[in-house]
Amino acid sequence: MTNKSAQLQSKAQKYLAGGSFGNPTGDLVIARGTGSHVWDSNGREYVDYLLGSGPMLLGHAHPAVIEAVQDQLANGTTYFAMNEKAILLAEEIVRAVPSVEKIRFMSTGTEATAYALRLARAATGREKILKFEGGYHGMHDYALMSLRPSKLADYPNPVPDSRGIPRAVEDTVLVAPFNDLEYATSIIEDYRDELAAVIVEPLQRIIPPAPGFLEGLREATQIHDVPLIFDEVVTGFRLAFGGAQEYYGVEPDITTLGKVIGGGFPLAAVGGKAQFMDEFDAKKTDEALIQIGTLNGNPIAAAAGLASINVLKQPGTYERLRAISNSISSALESAAADLGIAANLVGDGPVFDLVFTGNPVENYAHVLQSNRVHQANFLRELKARGVLKDSKFYVSIVHNTDDVAKTVEVFTEALAATVGT
Ligand SMILES: Cc1ncc(COP(=O)(O)O)c(C=O)c1O
Repeated sequence: MTNKSAQLQSKAQKYLAGGSFGNPTGDLVIARGTGSHVWDSNGREYVDYLLGSGPMLLGHAHPAVIEAVQDQLANGTTYFAMNEKAILLAEEIVRAVPSVEKIRFMSTGTEATAYALRLARAATGREKILKFEGGYHGMHDYALMSLRPSKLADYPNPVPDSRGIPRAVEDTVLVAPFNDLEYATSIIEDYRDELAAVIVEPLQRIIPPAPGFLEGLREATQIHDVPLIFDEVVTGFRLAFGGAQEYYGVEPDITTLGKVIGGGFPLAAVGGKAQFMDEFDAKKTDEALIQIGTLNGNPIAAAAGLASINVLKQPGTYERLRAISNSISSALESAAADLGIAANLVGDGPVFDLVFTGNPVENYAHVLQSNRVHQANFLRELKARGVLKDSKFYVSIVHNTDDVAKTVEVFTEALAATVGT
């Protein structure tokens, strides 16, 4: 380590709880990023598949985003009152995302899912929610249920992921295995009088929905009048311009968005059919939900989001993104196959990873049964060779054929080192 990096790491140890920001990539200090590359504080360059954990779908410091942010910066950074950029961004989001008629902004995906659940509870007058084991919805109390349990749940009872969560919260959360439509449907039927919502990541982490799963959830929730929430914090504007709901062709009642819509700044949203979103409208309901936030619809974040969406809108963007993503994921799959490693390429388009198991990966239990030591080793071996990722590969629209060549070149070596061959 150079002095700079060593100094920063030792300050981090001294001043930050646990020596980090809490995020899994806490052992790395990034100094700068451009396009599909970042440099750490030692000046070491990486091909970046971390993408800030997803927001940087346009790559780092995209000129259109920089320009939009600079223009807005000169006009002030926050007003609390409404602002033009966020109103225009709301319009873009409503036009793009099939089921969304109105939105509200907040700053993080965690807030978005918390508000979505409260909205569903308010709309139905019911309290319980159904989530899927291994599904990530941020860090609030309801989300931290069976996110990454070390043992499987006694379904539908959840396993809390953190100390400090009231027992009362645990009693309101039901858990089912992802992709098990029969079980989820039975829970929806059994609990329909108490169930305020079903919340699901349409692409759970990297696991695609089995054919018919989302359609079946939609049908069961419709029959029993239970709102369906798609958490599209990751998939929104990524799987397609209209997100997973456009890509998979299934429309929820309520949608959460984050990451891409803020262009690398803190911005998230809850959106949905007017029938639900009117719960926030004091003109339409006596006890409208309150949703106040100092930085709600922040104009810098909205300017970055708007600029990002304008770039993403260009014809051919998603076809190119998918083509480049597929060339990386298929090379990874072949490298593992050539080495005879028991592994499965899991994901969809620009979101994927290799899971070290010879069995199909359709739910959290399958991930739990995979070789997670290999998983951690693979990440470390890639990083040692200048390829950065966290728990999955995120591909941007600016990853190019040189990046692919460099990445593919290190796969075989990194995989061989991973399994110790
Ligand atoms: C699907 C999903 N929902 C919610 C969140 C929480 O978003 P944030 O980290 O902005 O609170 C994340 C974050 O990765 C996510 O992947």
